[in-house]
Amino acid sequence: MTYPKLLVKRDIVLKNVKALKKLTSENEVGILYGVTKVFCADPELAKIYIEGGVDGLADSRIQNLKKLQNFDIDKILLRLPQHSEVDEVVRYADISLNSEISTLRKLNEAAAKAGCRHKAILMVDLGDLREGFFQEEDFYQAVEEVLKMDHLILEGIGTNLTCYGAVIPKPHILKRLDDYKQGVKDRFDYDLKVVSGGNSSSVYLLGKEKLPSINNLRLGETLIRGTESSYGKQLPGTNSKGWVLQAQIIEIKEKPSVPVEETGLDAFGHEPVFVDRGVRKRALIAIGKQDIVNESLYPVDKDMIVLGGSSDHTILDISDCQKDYQVGDIVEFNLDYVGVLMTCTSEYVDVEII
Ligand SMILES: Cc1ncc(COP(=O)(O)O)c(C=O)c1O
Repeated sequence: MTYPKLLVKRDIVLKNVKALKKLTSENEVGILYGVTKVFCADPELAKIYIEGGVDGLADSRIQNLKKLQNFDIDKILLRLPQHSEVDEVVRYADISLNSEISTLRKLNEAAAKAGCRHKAILMVDLGDLREGFFQEEDFYQAVEEVLKMDHLILEGIGTNLTCYGAVIPKPHILKRLDDYKQGVKDRFDYDLKVVSGGNSSSVYLLGKEKLPSINNLRLGETLIRGTESSYGKQLPGTNSKGWVLQAQIIEIKEKPSVPVEETGLDAFGHEPVFVDRGVRKRALIAIGKQDIVNESLYPVDKDMIVLGGSSDHTILDISDCQKDYQVGDIVEFNLDYVGVLMTCTSEYVDVEII
């Protein structure tokens, strides 16, 4: 056995994906993209998404989409393509999200060279201030040009919220996608196939509000933990505990809770603050901030406290635990979305699907 290890409970992940496929379908969102970047597009995990009913696999990195090339399902590049990768984008992605006409021209050329037609979803920025056309006229100019390109298909429009600006996708905001869709119809007599209404932050609206013309969501966090990300609520029929991190104890000692001499900056250049609880029983585990930030660790043993750590170590207060922990014991943590993302990305953490 090697540690640290991330245990992925297959049944829970499958149940979450099925629950979300049902919920989106019931709300006229017929196209569900499962976002695979969180687990670095591990093909075994992607298979669970496909079994659960996703209609496409979406990832922000082309290296990840390459790993998915043998699956006969739409692959979507979530991050705007770099000029330097357009040849790979048309090869490994069926669809990409775009907001720059110079990139769209390069994609068109790359698709011509590859002898294929690549599908583009144009992103509009509805206030979150990350990617997307901000000025309407810029958007319509791009539509006009893309419609004339021989090797691009204008697949649809989309938006992304609650990532940078934390803007909550309220119905009146998403309604603007309706206006854009209608604008394209009125000006160019063209029907957009996909209206992509965002990520896990839009899920709270399902079943409450009729989402305008939205027929697609791109879901990462909600499939992983069953939570919508606007307010952090658990959705019915889902479970957040499908991802359990195991780490091994390498030291147990009683020590004061405040450093014994004058302090300066810690390993990450910050000035640490300590709570004086007196002498406490502390355990060191062999995982650190290079693998996961402390804030993403939720001990399964409710009496355990995560005190802090450095790049290779995490320090736990185990004084109040009922269990008499020994060096060599394995401790377990539930993870938030960032925790799953970080541990899957760390090459020092093994992933095991159970
Ligand atoms: C463009 C885009 N869409 C969708 C997602 C999925 O977001 P979430 O995990 O909130 O569902 C992301 C991020 O992973 C993204 O960058």
